Amino acid sequence: MVATQDLSDLARLDHEIFPDDPYPYSVLRQFMDTFAGHLLVAEGGGGLCGYVLATPPNAGESWIFSLGVAPASRRQGLGRQLMSETLTRLRGEGTRTVLLWVDPCNAQAVTLYESLRFAPDPAGPRTDHFGPGEHRLLMRLAL
Ligand SMILES: CC(C)(COP(=O)(O)OP(=O)(O)OC[C@H]1O[C@@H](n2cnc3c(N)ncnc32)[C@H](O)[C@@H]1OP(=O)(O)O)[C@@H](O)C(=O)NCCC(=O)NCCS
Repeated sequence: MVATQDLSDLARLDHEIFPDDPYPYSVLRQFMDTFAGHLLVAEGGGGLCGYVLATPPNAGESWIFSLGVAPASRRQGLGRQLMSETLTRLRGEGTRTVLLWVDPCNAQAVTLYESLRFAPDPAGPRTDHFGPGEHRLLMRLAL
């Protein structure tokens, strides 16, 4: 069980990274109750500055639910480090395919995922997948 203080710190970081669409606290709570073993955080400057949340393998598949680095800590390799470490751990747990949804306009994230050999869904972005106007591209990595 993740301590309340740790969860508050994570919620604050998530809000800083995704100011327009942070996870509700209740959702983060349930993610932590379920997937705490698959949360990786980066610390710096006296607090949390990045995190990635994945799911354990299910029939050989894992999802990346969220990846983010605080604005002041970007472009220092943290996003790549968090993803690489997570992929190594997932491979060790038996994951064969990693999936994620990304906003096709999010060039930073798409570039990062492509550099890690994630491939975009040939069918292209799915319209309104995360709600009205929220199109998302599925990306897939064979480990
Ligand atoms: C996407 C994100 C996690 C990248 O984190 P980061 O720590 O800045 O990334 P890194 O410094 O490790 O860079 C890794 C690669 O990402 C790409 N990248 C990151 N920022 C970029 C930018 N501003 N422009 C172009 N490419 C960029 C590059 O390929 C980079 O590799 P390089 O440094 O060898 O060129 C960060 O920008 C972020 O938190 N964005 C907001 C949240 C978000 O969009 N999350 C993804 C949701 S699917």
